[in-house]
Amino acid sequence: MNDHAVQLTNVVVNRNGILALDDVSVGIGFGRITGLLGPSGSGKSTLMRAIVGVQIVASGSVTVLGLPAGAPELRSRVGYVTQAPSVYRDLTVRENLSYFRNILGTRNADVDRVLEAVDLTSVQSQMVKTLSGGQEGRVSLATALLGKPELLILDEPTVGLDPVLRRDLWALFHTLADSGITILISSHVMDEASRCHDLILMRDGKLLAQGTERELLLQTSTDDIESAFLHLVDGHT
Ligand SMILES: Nc1ncnc2c1ncn2[C@@H]1O[C@H](COP(=O)(O)OP(=O)(O)OP(=O)(O)O)[C@@H](O)[C@H]1O
Ligand SMILES: [Mg+2]
Repeated sequence: MNDHAVQLTNVVVNRNGILALDDVSVGIGFGRITGLLGPSGSGKSTLMRAIVGVQIVASGSVTVLGLPAGAPELRSRVGYVTQAPSVYRDLTVRENLSYFRNILGTRNADVDRVLEAVDLTSVQSQMVKTLSGGQEGRVSLATALLGKPELLILDEPTVGLDPVLRRDLWALFHTLADSGITILISSHVMDEASRCHDLILMRDGKLLAQGTERELLLQTSTDDIESAFLHLVDGHT
């Protein structure tokens, strides 16, 4: 086993004739929260899809927890929350979780465990469509926690949430990371950078930079990640 939970090496992905990932090599450390930052269309979701094993890769390799991405053994070890909500709005919270638990083949008690983890026990009998946006997002997150994954891939989980909900969700991510789960989380909101242990900056399918927020600010002599990003963009053009 190497020292990275995820390792991409020279990954190239073509989507619609565009290089959605252009020779990307990057590692994601165990037990850390890594923020994947970049503007719309920079390849964040594509990179996540490659890690989960649902993206056709033209060349390069993606290794996840020591196995090739998409290996059947990884199914219960990797949790993935897609950018678009992927829960059934006409089912209750509990029914959604029971459905996904059944597919994964994990224990019944798993549903109660994840309900508690995302603090939705009290609304478990409500239909998802009657929940607030923040609660609905946590149902998605709960489905990804079924089966106790070692790696969580979260595609823009805080989009559209108010500051209080964003703060609460980040607290939850840190609780999960403290329990040993490795988390990759994408955002195009640069101010979420300071909540992550490590950062990956992307643009136009290319890796711009990787490191801690502190390292990237030092490297670019800037005071915030947005300025660091722009500095790096200018350096590349
Ligand atoms: N379903 C698709 N079919 C073809 N091309 C796609 C598809 N989805 C995305 N692309 C293209 O792949 C490139 C990378 O898109 P991707 O969705 O990975 O970006 P992103 O960083 O996640 O953006 P956003 O912040 O808007 O979610 C873009 O050029 C986009 O147009
Ligand atoms: Mg995306």
